[in-house]
Amino acid sequence: MTETEFKMKKPWAGRFKFKTSKIVEHFTESISFDNRLWRYDIEGSIAHAKMLGKQRIITKEDSEKIIQGLKEIAADIEKGKFKFKKDLEDIHMNIESALIKKIGDAGGKLHTARSRNDQVALDLRLYLREESKEILSLIKKFQKTFLNVATKHINSLMPGYTHLQRAQPVLLPHHILAYVEMLERDKKRFKDTLKRINILPLGASAIAGTTFPIDRVYVARLLGFDDISQNSIDSVSDRDFVIESLSNSSILIMHLSRLAEELVLWSTEEFRFIEMPDAFTTGSSAMPQKKNPDVAELIRGKTGRVYGNLFSLLTIMKGLPLSYNRDLQEDKLPLFDTVDTVKACLDILNEMLPGIKFNTNRMYETAVEGYSTATDIAEYLVKKGLPFRKAHEITGRVVLYCISKKKKLGELTLRELNRYSPLISDDIYLFLRPEESVKAKKSTGSTSPDEVRKQIKRLMRRLGDMETW
Ligand code: ARG
Repeated sequence: MTETEFKMKKPWAGRFKFKTSKIVEHFTESISFDNRLWRYDIEGSIAHAKMLGKQRIITKEDSEKIIQGLKEIAADIEKGKFKFKKDLEDIHMNIESALIKKIGDAGGKLHTARSRNDQVALDLRLYLREESKEILSLIKKFQKTFLNVATKHINSLMPGYTHLQRAQPVLLPHHILAYVEMLERDKKRFKDTLKRINILPLGASAIAGTTFPIDRVYVARLLGFDDISQNSIDSVSDRDFVIESLSNSSILIMHLSRLAEELVLWSTEEFRFIEMPDAFTTGSSAMPQKKNPDVAELIRGKTGRVYGNLFSLLTIMKGLPLSYNRDLQEDKLPLFDTVDTVKACLDILNEMLPGIKFNTNRMYETAVEGYSTATDIAEYLVKKGLPFRKAHEITGRVVLYCISKKKKLGELTLRELNRYSPLISDDIYLFLRPEESVKAKKSTGSTSPDEVRKQIKRLMRRLGDMETW
């Protein structure tokens, strides 16, 4: 490369006598991964050029030329006709230099009153705003799928677990709705973070603002931002909105991972609560009898990298002096990876869930076998006047008796039961079957069929609203 060629290539070449070494170019480039920001980079540049023209910082003519040039570049990229170059480091310089090549000197005016530092902060916000909305839609879609499954199994019973020991009978839809609630909070977190994402950083320039009479509010309006940032140093150095999104994603995938774990567990021969659809399982090359829940396992496994990405950025940011430092370029890979991963997990779960067969007979039998109505006996005795602790002890002894006799609670005769308490009469049988047990629940949020129906209705109403997530 001759000196003139070099000077044309690098925007900072003026200050340098020698060209950048190849190994440094290779080490510092981000175009190999930030090229996916091209749409936002161009959108932001078009708004910036419009503002420069409106404020007469550049001529209207130049502004229009720039906008036209940028639109053509967008079309080229869209068609796959654009060649991203590593020696041009990142998406911002790739697009700017293509613009200069396309429209000449006017292209060199685009970067007036701007720096890559506020530009990259802008691109990230635009990217994350769109992706957050996408994730929100996917969560909502998944919740609807869940609700449909819940409705389909409205009367099915299963043992509810604590400590992974059978605890009390619950309705299968009640268990499913627990996930819908978790996802509802996940959405709230993403929505709330959107408020902090949707602030325009552009205009901070490199760090200190600019001497040009820019109109930041105008740019914010053009790009659909709610507000403009109020401190130029903060604008170029802060990435807490990314950390928040990575944290929201970590909590979301933690929820998905718990679901995945239940799917794995429930599909085992030991549980046999569900059967996974063939299309979403794989066989073993060695053991012919196997049907492996790989999709669920991978969702559980991918949780590791989503947590890792959060920690990666927290660590990158820790101890960074103000304001922009090149370390911040490292925010992108974890962010992109997390966005891709949570979207892929939501997508595949959404496809897989409706195909899962619930073995509701087996679930019911398990609830009956597991003495899961023991708490109902205790509560029955309390209603007949015993203090709860005493009732608990008596019921414990009844269960012990059942175990020794290999009997289910519902199979005990009144005489057998009266040996433990004279307070027990015929009406006890109303509480010994799982279906009676759930029916007897009274509290809001409980597993009673009335309550579960009410919750399904409430959630359907909320999710049916087209306007909101
Ligand atoms: N590629 C850079 C990043 O992602 C863009 C900003 C570069 N700014 C700079 N002063 N070198 O952070």
